[in-house]
Amino acid sequence: MGKRIIVHERDHPYAVKLGDLAGFKNLTTDEKLLKYEVHICACGLSKNKPFCDGSHAKTHGEESDHVYTYDKEHSRSEVYEGYKE
Ligand code: FES
Repeated sequence: MGKRIIVHERDHPYAVKLGDLAGFKNLTTDEKLLKYEVHICACGLSKNKPFCDGSHAKTHGEESDHVYTYDKEHSRSEVYEGYKE
């Protein structure tokens, strides 16, 4: 099986309230459940995907025009400078 490099630019998770999900309001009227918030990983480093596990803290300090890779222990290496979309 091949390997893929995927660019993630976000350094914090998406916060999603269950009550905001399409169709969820039709399943329950429990007010607490509708307000329950989950955090979805957007940095790509979580070991508990799709949920955030706080690993995004390792991305803080990245420079916007640089590209980095992270190993399994989340050690950062810079691989490219001058990145533009
Ligand atoms: S956003 Fe990826 S671990 Fe938090």
